[in-house]
Formats: sequence, C-alpha cells, structure tokens
Amino acid sequence: MQRWPLRQVAFIGLGLIGSSLARLLRERGLVERITAASRSRQTLATAQQLGIIDIGYANPADAVRGADLVILAMPVNATEAVMAAIKPALSQSAVVTDVGSTKGNVVAAAEAVWGHVPATFVPGHPIAGSEQSGVMAGRADLFAAHKVILTPLTHTSADAVALVTALWQAAGAEVMTMRVEQHDAVLARTSHLPHLLAFSLVDTLAQESDNLDIFRYAAGGFRDFTRIAASDPRMWHDIFLANRDAVISALDAFEAGTQRVRDAITSNDSDALLGMFTRARAAREHFTHMLAGTAYAKSMTHTKELRFTVEPGGNFTGRARVPGDKSISHRSIMLGSLATGVTDVTGFLEGEDALATLQAFRDMGVVIEGPTAGRVRVHGVGLHGLKAPPGPIYVGNSGTTMRLLSGLLSAQPFNAVLTGDASLAKRPMERIAKPLRMMGADIQTTGERGTPPVTITGNAALKGIHYDMPIASAQVKSGVLLAGLWAQGTTSVTEPAPTRDHTERMLRGFGYAVKTEGATANVQGGGKLTATQIDVPADISSAAFFLVAASIAPDSDLVLEHVGMNPTRVGVINILRAMGGNIEVLNSREVGGEPVADLHVRSAQLKGIDIPEDQVPLAIDEFPSLFIAAACAEGVTTLTGAEELRVKESDRIQVMADGLLTLGVSAVPTADGIVITGGPIGSGEVISHGDHRIAMSFAMAGLRATGPIVIRDCANVATSFPDFIGLARRCGLRIRASEHDLH
Ligand code: S3P
Repeated sequence: MQRWPLRQVAFIGLGLIGSSLARLLRERGLVERITAASRSRQTLATAQQLGIIDIGYANPADAVRGADLVILAMPVNATEAVMAAIKPALSQSAVVTDVGSTKGNVVAAAEAVWGHVPATFVPGHPIAGSEQSGVMAGRADLFAAHKVILTPLTHTSADAVALVTALWQAAGAEVMTMRVEQHDAVLARTSHLPHLLAFSLVDTLAQESDNLDIFRYAAGGFRDFTRIAASDPRMWHDIFLANRDAVISALDAFEAGTQRVRDAITSNDSDALLGMFTRARAAREHFTHMLAGTAYAKSMTHTKELRFTVEPGGNFTGRARVPGDKSISHRSIMLGSLATGVTDVTGFLEGEDALATLQAFRDMGVVIEGPTAGRVRVHGVGLHGLKAPPGPIYVGNSGTTMRLLSGLLSAQPFNAVLTGDASLAKRPMERIAKPLRMMGADIQTTGERGTPPVTITGNAALKGIHYDMPIASAQVKSGVLLAGLWAQGTTSVTEPAPTRDHTERMLRGFGYAVKTEGATANVQGGGKLTATQIDVPADISSAAFFLVAASIAPDSDLVLEHVGMNPTRVGVINILRAMGGNIEVLNSREVGGEPVADLHVRSAQLKGIDIPEDQVPLAIDEFPSLFIAAACAEGVTTLTGAEELRVKESDRIQVMADGLLTLGVSAVPTADGIVITGGPIGSGEVISHGDHRIAMSFAMAGLRATGPIVIRDCANVATSFPDFIGLARRCGLRIRASEHDLH
C-alpha cells in the first residue's frame, strides 16, 4: 500500500487538469518528485520553470519509470497509445488513474493493451474545468468543492481505489463511484449533450444568410446558452466520438422532446406547450431539492441552521394579513387538478408544504402556472387525466400532502411512492392506509412502524365503505373522501369530533355533491369536478401567533385582515376568549364558501382555564401558541384529550414543555396534554426540533420575557409562514434571524 507523501507521481499531459493537480500535490507536499510527459516541449519547459514538475520527458515511458502513481491527463483519444507506451516501464505496484470525460473507451483501451483491465487501474473523472486550457491556466484549487467520479471495476484493487480517493479528497473534491456505463450515460446527458447543442446552435446560425444580424442583435439568452461553445473544439470532438453511443441516445431523447414542442406549436396546443415549459422551469429546482432532501422555498437553506433571537419586551400593534390558509391551499391544487377547466387561485400560500403539493401534481402531468404573488392557475385534467409520476413523489415536511394524496393515488391506474423529509418519515401513515385498504386499495407503509414511504399499486377497483374514524383527523377524512370520488357507490366517514371541513366545502365549490348529516359526510363515486375560482383566506393557524402576541404584550392593538373563520378552525379564538382575551370579530363575510373576518385584538390580562376537550380538534394546530398564552396567564391552564399533539411535526407536548421549563415556566406534560402555571418568562435557548409552530410560538414569548430568547432550528417556519420575521417585526417583535453552521 502506498503512503503519503508519495515518492514519485508521473503526469502524462499537463493541460488544465494535469497541471492543476500537479500544483496541488506540490503545494500540499504530498509528493517528493513529480515527473511528466507532454507532446509539447514548451509545456514541459514552462512547467519546470513554474516549479510544478521536477523533470519532463517527451516519451511517456520515461516519465512513469519508478512512479508510485501515474495520472493520465492527456486527451481521451490518446489513451490506448499512451497505455501501450507506458506498459513496459510501469513498476508492478504503480497505481494508474486517468481524468478523461468518458470512461467506456478508456476501459476498452486498457483491455486492448493488457488483454484485461489491470487491478491497479482506477478510471476517474473530475467534474471541473474552465473555458481556459493549458499549463498556465492550472490552479491548485480547481477541484475544491467539485465532484470526482471514480468508476472502478469489480476486480479493481481496493488499495488503489483508496489511494486515488485520498488524492482527490486532498484536492477538496467530493469523491463518488459509479459503474462505467452509468457514468457515460449520465455525462452524455448532463454535459456532453449541452455542449453538442451549444456548438451546433452557433454553427447553424452562423451558416444562415442573415448571420451578421443574428450575432449583432444576440441578447443575453443566446450568450448564456452558447457560452460553452467557446470550449476547446478538439477536446469536445474527441469526447463525442469517444462516448458515441451514449451521446446518440441522449440526442435521440432530446430530438423527441423538440419534436413534441414542434407539434404543440404547429397544432396550437397551448396546454401541451405551457405544460412542458412550466414543468421544465420547476424541474431544475425540484431535482436539486430532491437530491438534497431539502426544501422548495428559497428561505429554507438547510445547509445552515436558522436561528431566531428575540430581544425582550415591546408591544404588538398595527394591521397585518398573514399568509394564505395551508389546508385550503393544498386542496385548491388537488381539486383544481382533478377538475375540468382552468381554476384560478388567489391568496395561495407560497410556503414549502403547499409548494410540495403543487410539485406533486406537476409530476403527474398537470399544467400549473405560478405561484406569483399568491396567484396560481391550474389547468385541470379531469378525474381521469393524471399521469404516472416519473419517480417517487417527494412531499417534504407535509403530512397533509402525504395523507390526502394516499387516498387520491389509491384510485389511479398507475403506481406511486410517496416520500418526505426526516420529520415526516416518523409520522404515522397506517391511520390513512387502513381505511383505504378496506376500500380495496393496494397500499403499504414501507417505513418501520407504519411510517413513510407509502407505496401504492395502481389499478385497484375501489368500493365505497362506511368508515367510523377512531381519531378526529381531517386528513384521514379527506383522504378517504377523495378516494371515494373514484369508488363504486357511496363512501362515508363519521368523525368522533368535528374536524376541519375544507375538503367538503371545496368539493361542493367544484360542483361535486357532498352530503353531511351530523358527524357523517358522504360522496358518491363517478361524479365530475368543474373548475372554479378560489380566494384563499389568511390562515387562522398563522394568525394564532399574532393573536397571542397582541394579547400578552402590554399596550397592543392589532387588526388581522381576511382571516379564515371556518367554524371547525376557530378554537383558538374561543379558548383565548375563555382566558379573558379581548378579540373582536369584524366584517364577517363569506368568500368562496369559506367564512372570513377581520380580527381586532388588544392586550388583556389572561387567566388560566381548563381547556374544554370539545375545543381540542378545533384548535389542534394552535396549541403551541396557546401554551405561551397560558404561560402569561394568571393561574393554571390544563389541557387534556390532546394526545394527537404527540404525533404532529414534533411531539408538541414534550417539546413545548422542555422549552417552557428552559425559560423558567412550570409546565408538566401528561399523556394527553399539559399543565402550565403562569409566571414570569425568563431567557434562554430553546430547541424547536424543526417544528415551525414551536419556533413561532417561542418567538412570541419574547414579548413578555425578562431577557433574550434564542430559538434553534427554525428553517421549517417557511413550511407555513414565509416572511414570518418581516411581518412580526413590522408589528413590533424584536426578532432577528441568523444562520449557523450545522454540527
Ligand atoms: C390538516 C389537518 C390536521 C392539521 C394539519 C392540517 C388538514 O391534521 O393538524 O395541520 O389540512 O387536513 P390531522 O388530520 O392529523 O388532525
């Protein structure tokens, strides 16, 4: 096994890549002696003058004699000739690697020269470069934070792979391994095809008769698209020939794509055209997020930890409209997609969770324009128009998306897999899978303990059932009713306590009959949804933080505009009022089947209460903020019958109790609730466990704290409340956000 520093490294070729790596080895003292061969004497002389190499040779065999490591960094089409030349001079233990952009032909060259691929040969490809070339252009940091792909064969020596891996890691690169064919197919699409198109486009336009005008008026788009046509023509010529089969297959796929665009334009198929373009626009970001397992919203970096710091005191005053209702935003995309015609949505929540739903339907072929300033246009495909998604549907942090889609997808003629982020991966999915199985769905929760991923096999013939829900869950109710749209006969759900009825209301808004009798809602399968307009009210769950803030901070006077007042959602107002809160409901009106009002809130001395259990489902998402209200109230507040809080985005009972204790408030968790004794709020650092509502609740606690409160792990606030910080500051909260390295 080789040891660092190596005694001798030989480079064959000293262009941009070879000379960059040689510089790095030199600068980092990783080698005692560097030899090199190049066809150009000038290059060798320059390299020696610059101190990059110790000695240069015209003949590759001379350079590799005695070397521990040989790096082939010349054009790929010279590989076979170079290998044949160095073969007799290589020492037995020498490790050989290369930097070629194609791997199949390099492996074939080794086979041709040795009769087999030597175990000491590690094919490699650094994904780094520049439009500049030559020994002068090299930089020791060229590979930092870039990827290097190694394509070892099954019999390649592990020691040789370890050596080459260590080399690239020393250069600051991320090393990954792939199979040879996989490498060539992927690179043909991500690198070779774009270069081919850039060269071809410029050449095609340059041949046209009015070419001068084309180049004279060429704007940014042409320049951006064709930047890479300035790359080394000889090198790319070699690459296209070396990776011929994979490049041709990528080109075929591309030509089929441009043919689809051509057909759509020729036949004036506006939907098809818009579909391709909206999907393309979304796809770039979408796949980046999927790969990183992160978010759609720009504010959710996840490469850093987002922390809130709240300075104590202040009042909470002004007029504000909080973002659109999350539950209604999800449903507007789902039902809009399943309708016939075009649905326009305003007030759409541009938060991470709703964007996940939007992306899911784009994945299933629905054309969705926007969101732009809360406006979305959904080009419905009808109940039978969804297409199979190209891969697993990634729904991020959104439990609502996963549970509602489970129902909807159970009835489709294609298979689907639903996955999500780390928090969602722990949440229970059997509660929706069970009733769907009773309807005949083929659905599995493939995580441990009935958790995601959810795998659904299509083409199940669903039949209507009656389902008595054991838990009060609007997500389960909605998932079952949505499956019922395709089921034979009647599907009905009875809930043990009233839960949000946005699905029922919105289905009616789309012209689909939903009957409700007492606690039971039912639908008949086989109907039709007709496109409509949806105006999404402000989310009462987001308003809750502001209601609590203005109630607990002295001298506050706040108006919240256009808040959704669906009777199944107003528990937070009922509970705050029971605690002595001063909340006036103004301008009550109905917008698109949902009641809406403005809320006027003023400071009040709150008092502790026993929260009535019938209010629990009506305020299910608002308890974190209500716990802060309880901490500011006189006396004891007791919550019971709320075990569901333990399986939300976090265990909200435990996480809130921990945070309150840190701040010096007495909070005793119980199996199904909590007992909080009001008292002074101190300062300290609390951990939100990535739960958006916990983070925003503790932020509001700052208004009554005696010192600063730091809240950790706040990026997920963007799932439901983009620009929380901006809006809260405008009302008077002394809050700022900062980013920190993740440990
Ligand atoms: C939601 C239902 C509730 C709620 C969630 C949104 C919905 O969940 O907590 O934030 O949009 O249907 P459960 O159905 O699990 O109670």
